[in-house]
Order: sequence, then structure tokens, then C-alpha cells
Amino acid sequence: MTQAQEAILLVGGKGTRLRPLTVNTPKPMVPAAGVPFLTHQLARARAAGVEHVVLATSYLAEVFEPYFGDGSSLGLHLEYVTEVEPLGTGGAIRNVASRLRSGPDDPVLIFNGDILTGLDIPALVGTHRSSGADVSLHLTRVEDPRAFGLVPTDATGRVTAFLEKPQTPEEIVTDQINAGAYVFRRSVIDRIPAGRPVSVERETFPELLSSGAHLQGMVDSTYWLDLGTPQAFVRGSADLVLGRAPSPAVPGRCGDRLVLPTATVAADAKLTGGTVVGEGAVVGEGARISGSTLLDGAVVEAGAVVTDSLVGAGARVGARTVLTDAVVGDGAVIGADNELRDGVRVWCDATLPAGAIRFSSDQ
Ligand code: GDD
Ligand code: MG
Repeated sequence: MTQAQEAILLVGGKGTRLRPLTVNTPKPMVPAAGVPFLTHQLARARAAGVEHVVLATSYLAEVFEPYFGDGSSLGLHLEYVTEVEPLGTGGAIRNVASRLRSGPDDPVLIFNGDILTGLDIPALVGTHRSSGADVSLHLTRVEDPRAFGLVPTDATGRVTAFLEKPQTPEEIVTDQINAGAYVFRRSVIDRIPAGRPVSVERETFPELLSSGAHLQGMVDSTYWLDLGTPQAFVRGSADLVLGRAPSPAVPGRCGDRLVLPTATVAADAKLTGGTVVGEGAVVGEGARISGSTLLDGAVVEAGAVVTDSLVGAGARVGARTVLTDAVVGDGAVIGADNELRDGVRVWCDATLPAGAIRFSSDQ
């Protein structure tokens, strides 16, 4: 048996680095490839045989249940648990323990709620069973591991240390990082202290290791992206549309673009590179949009050029405006003939007059 029937999804973070996308919407509910990002994770878990999922919510907790309900539309049984005060990753896991149905030795899957990955979930559960580990972790290799949890392993894949967000060069002992998917033996969850904030990365994993518990790593080289920044989020959405990142929940065929049914796109507009045009969004004549996401009701006027950018719900991009690597918050209005680049983030409902900002020099 390489299935786990239950999963916990950690979806309570504030998504600070993703602002202004997360001002009105918690990170897992921001649309990627036309549906709230969490839909992709839930559909992948379902496809791997998971039947029962508990969502550990905190920030903007009230928006999850009205959208996903009891989970039956995804073939899942979904439950919601909201923390009164944020309990951190470990505290959140412990806080939902009473909802689990698994026996003490059964495997329970746990996912960070902002990871887009092609992880072979049954293979991780298989590794967990065959190694007899207490906890098994999906690991991936990255060029710069400093923003992650470093997880060195021995020749058998057994975890030897856990170093969350290393501060000094000496701590950078590996390029293997915690990829944000775990299998826990259920009894290990019950042993996390209850009723106070706990970081699974800074407290639980190091303590388990020093008490001699068996933590097993599974390294692979499948698609992996933490959607914690606007650039990564836009990239991830485009990769879902292009079919580079696998998900059963992309609404429509994979290809260069995804245009949701009620959107209006001018006949001569060019949409490429995994661009998404949301419900009711409008793209004007001659606009060129590449690798970008237009959320529901967004408007891009004639001749605008939008590259690797996100335009929030109901936001407006004026004629001939150029956006490159930019995020425009929900409801913001960018006048005509602006040029916004290099990670600029325009706040929700802000207004920029026509011709107000440019980067390139005038001829
Ligand atoms: N319920 C709940 N309560 N969820 C929380 C809380 C909380 O207090 N704090 C964070 N979360 C959720 C977030 O919503 C997210 O889905 C997940 O826990 C991880 O939090 P992030 O804030 O995204 O952490 P990170 O990206 O800096 O680091 C984590 O992920 C990396 C991989 O992307 C760590 O697990 C690292 O070790 C790991 O390498
Ligand atoms: Mg993250």
C-alpha cells in the first residue's frame, strides 16, 4: 500500500511577501491558471488516493469553506480548523490532530499550502513505509538554499540535520531543501505540544532528530516552486497553463494561453507564454500579453504590453502602458502610457495618472 488516506494542508500564513495579492485573499486562494491555487494541490492529493483533508486555517480563514464546501466537488471530504491565534506550522498540525481518523502508525500527509510541484506523492508514502521512518520529507535541490530549510542526508537518505533559513555561510552545508511535503506517522503528530505556537521546522524537526527519531528524505528533480513571491506566483501560473507543472485542475487544455469563458479578447491581441485571462476580463486591440495573469474583471487596454506580470481583479492597465515583472493590485488603475518594471508592486485601488512613470529614456 503506497497510499495515505489523510492529509493536512497548512494554509494559515499571512502571505506577506505576496502582497498586494494577499491583501484581500489568502495566498492559497489567489487564482493560478484560472482557479484558486489550493485547487491544484487538492486535486493532486485526490489523484494520489487521499480522501480526507483537513485545512489548517488562520489568516482570512473565512474564505475557504464558502468556496470548497465539504469538498465533494473534488471527490474529497474536507474539514476546516481555524486557529484563534496563529500557531505556526507545527502548532497548526497539532491543532487539527483531533480531526484525523488514522491509527497511531498510519501515514498522514502534510503539505505547505504554497508549493507547486510534480511530486510523486505515492512514492513519498512508499519511501516512508519501506524505510520505516517516523517522518519522511520531500526534498529538492535549489541553487540558493538560504530562503529555505536545509536538510542534509546520509548515504541512505536518512536526515542528519535540519537548518531552517541559515544565517551564516557555515550553515550552508547542502543544496537539498525541505520541499514542503511530509509524511508523518500519526503518533508523532500527537506528540507535538498543544495550545501554543510551534514551528515544525525550527522546533519539531530538530527535537525529533536529537531524540533519535528516524527522519527520511526523498530527493527528486521534479518540477518544484514555492509560490511565495509575486514573480514565482506568476511563473507558477504560467507553467500550469503551459503544462510544465502538472495539475488535474487546470480548467481547459494546456497550451500557450488560457482564456476563461466570459473573458473578451480583441481578435488581434497576442496572448503567449502561459497567459491567463480571467472571468470577465477584457484585452483590447493589439495588446501583447506574455507569461502573465489577468485576474477576474481586469482590463488591459489597446496596445498595452504586459510581460511576466499580474493584473489584479478589476484592475485596469491603460493604453500603450508597458508592464514587465510588475504586480498591479486588485482595483488599481494604471493610466495610459506608463512603464512599470522590475518587481514594482502597485497597491490595491491605487491610481496612477497617464504618462506618470517611465524607465526607458526618451528618443
Ligand atoms: N495554519 C497555519 N498557521 N499555517 C501557517 C502558519 C500558521 O501560523 N504559518 C505558516 N503557515 C503555512 C503557510 O500558509 C504555508 O502554506 C506554510 O505554512 C509554510 O509557510 P511559509 O510562510 O510559506 O514558509 P516558507 O516558505 O518561508 O518556508 C517553508 O517552506 C519552505 C519550502 O517552500 C519551510 O517549511 C521551509 O523549511 C521550506 O524549505
Ligand atoms: Mg512558502
